[in-house]
Amino acid sequence: MLGRSTVLPCSSPSTSFAAPSTLRQPRRAAAKSISAALVTDTPRPKAIESNGTTRNGNGKLGQGGPTIINGQVLHSINAHQLDLIHSMDGYLDKTVVPILKDVKTMWQPTDFLPDSSSPDFLDQVAELRKRTDQLPDDYWVVLVGDMITEEALPTYMAMLNTLDGVRDETGAADTPWGRWTRQWTAEENRHGDLMNKYCYLSGRVNMRAVERTIQNLIGSGMDPKTENNPYLGFIYTSFQERATKVSHGNTAAHATELGDKQLGKICAAIAGDEARHEKAYIKIVDRLFELDPSGTMIAFGDMMRKQIVMPAHLMNDNEHMQNNSRNLFKDFSSVAQATGTYTGQDYVNIMEFLMKHWNIGGMLGLNSEAQKAQDDVQALLTKFRRLTDRQERIMKSKAVVPTKFSWVFNKEVPVIQV
Ligand SMILES: [Fe+2]
Ligand SMILES: [Fe+2]
Repeated sequence: MLGRSTVLPCSSPSTSFAAPSTLRQPRRAAAKSISAALVTDTPRPKAIESNGTTRNGNGKLGQGGPTIINGQVLHSINAHQLDLIHSMDGYLDKTVVPILKDVKTMWQPTDFLPDSSSPDFLDQVAELRKRTDQLPDDYWVVLVGDMITEEALPTYMAMLNTLDGVRDETGAADTPWGRWTRQWTAEENRHGDLMNKYCYLSGRVNMRAVERTIQNLIGSGMDPKTENNPYLGFIYTSFQERATKVSHGNTAAHATELGDKQLGKICAAIAGDEARHEKAYIKIVDRLFELDPSGTMIAFGDMMRKQIVMPAHLMNDNEHMQNNSRNLFKDFSSVAQATGTYTGQDYVNIMEFLMKHWNIGGMLGLNSEAQKAQDDVQALLTKFRRLTDRQERIMKSKAVVPTKFSWVFNKEVPVIQV
């Protein structure tokens, strides 16, 4: 069985990225800070409120300031940094785009599924169902939550195309950044596709409730707090891809352990893709650190302080709250945590890994603002580690509440009361 005893309070599932909730800060304050840090040598644009009022960043007319819509700072990259991004075309073509695999040799979802054109298709489905019968409901809740997150891919492609200097201006732009975004999306598209079909064939999942959740999630979008800024955006995606690798890797191990080796192979194949994507995004940020160490340090410090939010944090199945008086995403995160699929410790481990990889603690030659970011982010890691350890201890004494999940036909799954 999956380890329910190792429960952390506020970690999040595979494609989710919330650190301990006690650490969260007001979004607007964080957004102002990065704006001040990065918008230093560009003309100060106007801000547009949702009601159409034009204001500056301080809310006063006529004084300039960052562009803000509904509390979200926009376009925080400065002109020099934008030039650096444009200078990376050759690097991207040579170092990053080749990390994607050739479509001709790439695995496809059908490689892992019963062959619907085969005379023994129904026997293959029966075999699949025999295997999936052994999987407990808490496993399904995590797998389905991960699948729903993958299925909201239109939102993630849109997010990449919000980033200044890298967006695909036409939808078919023949630029390295445009090719990367489209082909990355095309690789990712296989993940939700495969997981969705496997869940459907198992008969263990209420697909209508799942489909409703996917439609709601795509309709809601996400706010990764990346400010159209590719520095922030690629730090976010570096973290996110590693988080998904960890989560899918764990659902693979758990499926194998629980008797469904085929599902283990599926989740492992997806985790393998996430590992390549992580490598690619990290390489982009490697280059940013080479070209602009101070600017990238400030961006890294800012993203870590604001925290990496989960792309699926707005998920809604239209009934979880009514049935349980609790938030669906929080409960999904809690089950992912309880099953050891993605935990608060994982969040802190990823942060630590990236800090080691980018030599955050040892980087020299930074300007004073970047040095402050360097000190702050190291202190933040220590604080996150301490809080996560403490919350882990506290959670062991918290009550477990039977909670209905529509995704598994309203069967009750234990959720730690946070
Ligand atoms: Fe994925
Ligand atoms: Fe991914």
